Amino acid sequence: MSLNQISLNNFRNIEALSFSPSDQINIILGENGSGKTSLLEAIYFLSNGRSFRTNKHKLMIRHEQTKCVVHGKKQLHSLSIPIGISKDLQGETQLRIQGQSSRKIAELAQILPTQVITPESYELFFGGPKERRKFLDLGVFHVEHQFYSVWKDFNKVLKQRNALLKSKPVQYQLQIRTWDREFVRLAEQINMFRKAYISRFERHFFDKIGVISPIFKGLEMRYDAGWKGDLAELLNAQLERDSKLGYTTKGPHKADFNFYANGHGVENILSRGQLKLTLYALKIAQNNLIEAETEKQSILLIDDLPSELSQDTMLSIAHLLAECQSQLFITAINSESIQAIVEPMKRNVEMFHVEHGRLITK
Ligand SMILES: Nc1ncnc2c1ncn2[C@@H]1O[C@H](COP(=O)(O)OP(=O)(O)OP(=O)(O)O)[C@@H](O)[C@H]1O
Ligand SMILES: [Mg+2]
Repeated sequence: MSLNQISLNNFRNIEALSFSPSDQINIILGENGSGKTSLLEAIYFLSNGRSFRTNKHKLMIRHEQTKCVVHGKKQLHSLSIPIGISKDLQGETQLRIQGQSSRKIAELAQILPTQVITPESYELFFGGPKERRKFLDLGVFHVEHQFYSVWKDFNKVLKQRNALLKSKPVQYQLQIRTWDREFVRLAEQINMFRKAYISRFERHFFDKIGVISPIFKGLEMRYDAGWKGDLAELLNAQLERDSKLGYTTKGPHKADFNFYANGHGVENILSRGQLKLTLYALKIAQNNLIEAETEKQSILLIDDLPSELSQDTMLSIAHLLAECQSQLFITAINSESIQAIVEPMKRNVEMFHVEHGRLITK
């Protein structure tokens, strides 16, 4: 059920690279600038159709080349599903799933539930609602089959509503009121899916993961739907304000999933190392839940794991990773720095070395 074959062409500094990762833990070692993050980025690109480090697709394409390509084979029971994605300088994306071309990135994302943790992730995650909402929706997307189409429809309505609020054509308020019935219907469905998911997520987190570190014991999760009370009434009451601003201020697109310790937002009370550990716990709990509720093995990409972590935090992360059945790709500069993670691990560990964009077997 894992990604058991990966190949890259003209991706960042990697001209051509092919390897067969373990379905358990893969450690990718290499000097600064060797291509470790690029390798993780390519796996993320294969599962999400975009990079986790840039919106500028051109940067993924190797200098002086016209397109980057990533292929993989996903093992599902006895079935091997070939998947592939490429992006050219014009931004054109080509997808292939099982020999068929596809236009839907969501199909790839369905096949490969993938999360990423980089040394900067915790700042983004605890710094604002956008990343937390993305995190929440990734979980809902994988376990609630109808969520994606509802979410897509809602975003179409939101776009229409915002366009009307911005351009204010004749009788735009009347038009908005017509859209609002659909807006409310879809918003309530999204809210219902999210709430149901969070209650399962919380239970899962505190049963399985919450025991690993005392930091997690005092953790409290709060969900904010993006509005309070009757949404139809609220949209009506806000219409004047929204027209002035040119966008919709209430609705599921403003939802948040917040974390508190002793009544304070974790970002204001926990240390950087503690925040990092908390983020690992949340992401691992999410992957575990996706795996428990679907047949899929998920992927967790961890870039530069040892950076800024003390030995005891590394040990807690090792315990978290031992609880995790995801296929792991972890990068580090050298094997010594990762020893505290690898040693207590009871799972199969494969080591790979990257040098100047090439995989070297040592
Ligand atoms: N589009 C591109 N074409 C060619 N080379 C690129 C491109 N984008 C980035 N690079 C180069 O690729 C190399 C690998 O970068 P990468 O970020 O993967 O390194 P890394 O192994 O993660 O290093 P670090 O340990 O410093 O994080 C760097 O030298 C970078 O300058
Ligand atoms: Mg890197």
